[in-house]
Amino acid sequence: MISINDIDKPFIDKLFEKTDDIIKRGGSKGKCRLNIHSDKILVNAFFEPSTRTQLSFESAMKSLGGSVINFNAYTSSLKKGESFKDTIKTLSIYGDIIVLRHPQTGSAKEANEYSDVPVINGGDGSNEHPTQALLDLYTIYKSFDNNLNTVNTILFVGDCNNSRTIRSLIKLLHLYPHISIYFLPYSGCNPSEDMLHSISHKQNIQTNILDKNQPIPYHLFDVIYCTRLQKERIYTMKQQDRSRTDIVITKEILNKCKNNVIIMHPLPRIDEISTEIDNEPNSVYFKQMEYGVKIRMALLDLLLSR
Ligand code: NCD
Repeated sequence: MISINDIDKPFIDKLFEKTDDIIKRGGSKGKCRLNIHSDKILVNAFFEPSTRTQLSFESAMKSLGGSVINFNAYTSSLKKGESFKDTIKTLSIYGDIIVLRHPQTGSAKEANEYSDVPVINGGDGSNEHPTQALLDLYTIYKSFDNNLNTVNTILFVGDCNNSRTIRSLIKLLHLYPHISIYFLPYSGCNPSEDMLHSISHKQNIQTNILDKNQPIPYHLFDVIYCTRLQKERIYTMKQQDRSRTDIVITKEILNKCKNNVIIMHPLPRIDEISTEIDNEPNSVYFKQMEYGVKIRMALLDLLLSR
């Protein structure tokens, strides 16, 4: 799984059904342990920092009865000058599936060409993060009574230029054209031309970019999806000067929203959402994390059973 482009609606339906089943089997403790892939090894190959993606894949694989190898780019033969190609070839011999995170756009696609086993894109630069989009969509689906038809609007707040989670989720939302997409970008973080083009193509309307200096119609949105400033992807000094986290979701803002709005964040959070709303029922960012393990269990099961 390299890109959301590889995914269609029947696949999502199958994945969500399987995820629902895993959650049901977990019972009240929420921990589902199956022993269905004890002959399989997952290789985590993370060339960039990660907490949730790496550890949730490890937790998911172990919950399916499988084993995990964690490749460490910093202590590997890459340091001796070994190529990316030979590294991936090696990892594909040691495991049955690879999860790759890498700072370069296109790296997952490239790895897939070198690997003899399936590669899952765990984030390639500012390009894509398909499994995060799947768990995000699943969180929206569960929060609205298993019915995406009742969701009409989503607001993306933050670094709309460099966030791969926004990019992948928008691509996934192409399959649900009744959902209108709005942006509320930080200074210097407007959505890129290609993102805007893909949306105007989908919705056949002018894309909605809101100006943070004007009153924001918070009451319009069903979903508010926040992201952190992707400092590591802001390359020029000029851009760094212009980019700032200048919108924080507070209790005051939440009070202006629909009663059943959900506040999402792929995490890590720095200061984009005030901790004062962490315990509100609208705040689902920790729930997203929980669903992340279950979606990844379902996904690994589907890919390893092929
Ligand atoms: C995101 C990522 O790595 O793109 N985190 C994640 O996978 N949960 C978001 C981010 O780092 O800001």
